[in-house]
Amino acid sequence: MNVDGVPYRSIWVNDDGISIDVIDQTRLPHEFRILNLRTLEDARDAISNMVVRGAPLIGATAAYGFYLAMLRDAANAAIDSAYESLYAARPTAVNLRWALDRTRASLAGLEPDERAACALETARDIAELDVDINQQIGRHGLQLINNIAAHKAPGEVINILTHCNAGWLATVDWGTATAPIYMAFNSGIPIHVWVDETRPRNQGASLTAWELGHHGVPHSLIADNTGGHLMQHGQVDLCLVGSDRTTRSGDVCNKIGTYLKALAAKDNALPFYVCLPSSTIDWTIHDGLNQVPIEQRDGSEVSQITGRLPDGRIESVSIVPPGTRVANYAFDVTPARLVTGLITERGIVAASESALTRAFPEQATGPAV
Ligand code: MRU
Repeated sequence: MNVDGVPYRSIWVNDDGISIDVIDQTRLPHEFRILNLRTLEDARDAISNMVVRGAPLIGATAAYGFYLAMLRDAANAAIDSAYESLYAARPTAVNLRWALDRTRASLAGLEPDERAACALETARDIAELDVDINQQIGRHGLQLINNIAAHKAPGEVINILTHCNAGWLATVDWGTATAPIYMAFNSGIPIHVWVDETRPRNQGASLTAWELGHHGVPHSLIADNTGGHLMQHGQVDLCLVGSDRTTRSGDVCNKIGTYLKALAAKDNALPFYVCLPSSTIDWTIHDGLNQVPIEQRDGSEVSQITGRLPDGRIESVSIVPPGTRVANYAFDVTPARLVTGLITERGIVAASESALTRAFPEQATGPAV
């Protein structure tokens, strides 16, 4: 998508043809800085420090990281250690495992001197596939928005609430939850987006608001606790969120706070849709509440807040009494019963095992319960 009129993706091969460039998301919205990744460790650290984040982009970065590892050492042992090192970078987004499995499989049967080129090719394919899938998600979600528009007065604004950043910065391009939003906006449908700030790391305030602003999509930033009130007062028509891992039964793990939005949407009979590529579905598990590992991050993300001072310096300040104990769960699970539907590349699917395996029959044979 565009940054000040210039089209960008969130990850690409540098002009040197060897190293990888990413947008440093820890600097946004204050500074647009591109970071160059040259080694496996660079890629792993970029994922774990959230320079790059969002399930699909974590997957794509891991694939490029695998390639960077193979550039330096493509022996059999290096394949295993690259896999393990990248896999440990963040625990929740299942796209990481999906991308690593795919890259490792692509290397099977190759000689060491063929492996780096093959891993690069696979990483490029994964990135291109992500862009293509997000466009398909966008088109399916757009139909939903068109249906809502059809029940409104001509020109009446459609209000969409989103949580965290499931935008183009969280993917290679377009985003998942934002793909229908960008397509609706591009086709002239009057939309307005309520952007949850998404404490503790504020991905909504820092990233979603930045993205939408740079594309010109009308939006308002809200404190995380505001959505329920807006829903009660008819100011939300549709909730669109992303996912880090969705089980084969349709339980959705996403950024902490998603569950509370789904509860409020249910209480107000509002549609709550989750937009996700099928690489986000963990076909090996049924029970989101008990089988998805929930990442716990450093307490400083909760006890401190970072912002820009009037003189331009970026500082973090403490917002708690010294010594306060903090718990920092990064994700929660929204049970399938609260999800109106899953917007995938194969269409809008009910959040249930039967509907998911009808849409993805190649996954019909699941693990034993
Ligand atoms: O901790 P993050 O910023 O990686 O969490 C991101 C989210 O929860 C997104 O909603 C999710 O990855 C979907 S991204 C298309």
